[in-house]
Amino acid sequence: MSLLENYSGPALSISGLGKVYGNGFVALKDINLQVAQGDFFALLGPNGAGKSTTLGIVSGLVNKSQGQVSLFGHTLDGDGGGDVYAAKRLLGVVPQEFNFNQFEKVQDIVITQAGYYGIPYQQAKRRSEKYLKALGLWDKRDIPSRMLSGGMKRRLMIARALVHDPRVLILDEPTAGVDIELRQSMWHYLKQLNEQEGVTIILTTHYLEEAESLCKNIAIINHGVIVKNTSTRALLQELQQQTLVVDLIQPYPQRPKLTSVPLHWLDDSCFEVEVKKGVAINELFQAFSQANLLVSSIRPKSNRLETLFVDLVRK
Ligand SMILES: Nc1ncnc2c1ncn2[C@@H]1O[C@H](COP(=O)(O)OP(=O)(O)OP(=O)(O)O)[C@@H](O)[C@H]1O
Ligand SMILES: [Mg+2]
Repeated sequence: MSLLENYSGPALSISGLGKVYGNGFVALKDINLQVAQGDFFALLGPNGAGKSTTLGIVSGLVNKSQGQVSLFGHTLDGDGGGDVYAAKRLLGVVPQEFNFNQFEKVQDIVITQAGYYGIPYQQAKRRSEKYLKALGLWDKRDIPSRMLSGGMKRRLMIARALVHDPRVLILDEPTAGVDIELRQSMWHYLKQLNEQEGVTIILTTHYLEEAESLCKNIAIINHGVIVKNTSTRALLQELQQQTLVVDLIQPYPQRPKLTSVPLHWLDDSCFEVEVKKGVAINELFQAFSQANLLVSSIRPKSNRLETLFVDLVRK
């Protein structure tokens, strides 16, 4: 693709972005973000933080009040020259709300979308087959979209967003209301798209454990301000301590105490223990062994990212 041949800068660059809605509500204040090519990037934040507003501006669905958005080095507003048009073609968008024609058939929805990009009919048909199959919707291709379940509608939104083979895929809560099994298969598919096809993925989600396990970089937005923008790894390292829940093989009615670390017994065969950042948990196991506590399982009390997230957005 000629637009990308000699370009190694970020896929998406947002600088000084502000949004004041018509009623005077300030939704975004000076947002600065960069998403590298090939990144798997999560924009997290509580309800009303400004995630959809940000992604809506990038997708051209919402007008910005100030600042700049560039895709592959091309500013998205301005005179709309040929390169800007080509840059926009590299973007696929899955909005938070279903916005397809409820009466149109599933495959037709995907083919119609291809038409907006000038993709010839036969090719559009092949692509729609490829993506509907990949997203497990092929056997539903001939029914009106209103007859799909909620999770199927989400997947249809993804198939439609992919039909022009975008290099950046923006997904606003793609797994909202999707059951666990399906959610895992959707994330698996997105991961594959990112790793094998090199598609840059930017998404919002309220499922922090998924962001933690899949995304390379995370930004957290609160009240229209970016409060964190770093790698997932660095974010997790910021946690000063975590709580582990330890289950024992048998009950210990005497609930022994350890000198090295306080145990918070939940019942006779289970306790919680706090582990400080940088402390190897091997030492814990030695202490357990010395006290003859036989451990059957050990797990984090809550998702680590969740702890940090709640802390950051509490203000
Ligand atoms: N058209 C609008 N007019 C006025 N205010 C709006 C409009 N759209 C959104 N807002 C407000 O802007 C703020 C940010 O909304 P946005 O949809 O970006 O949040 P979000 O982070 O996507 O939240 P959620 O997690 O609930 O989807 C909210 O307070 C919302 O009420
Ligand atoms: Mg939203």
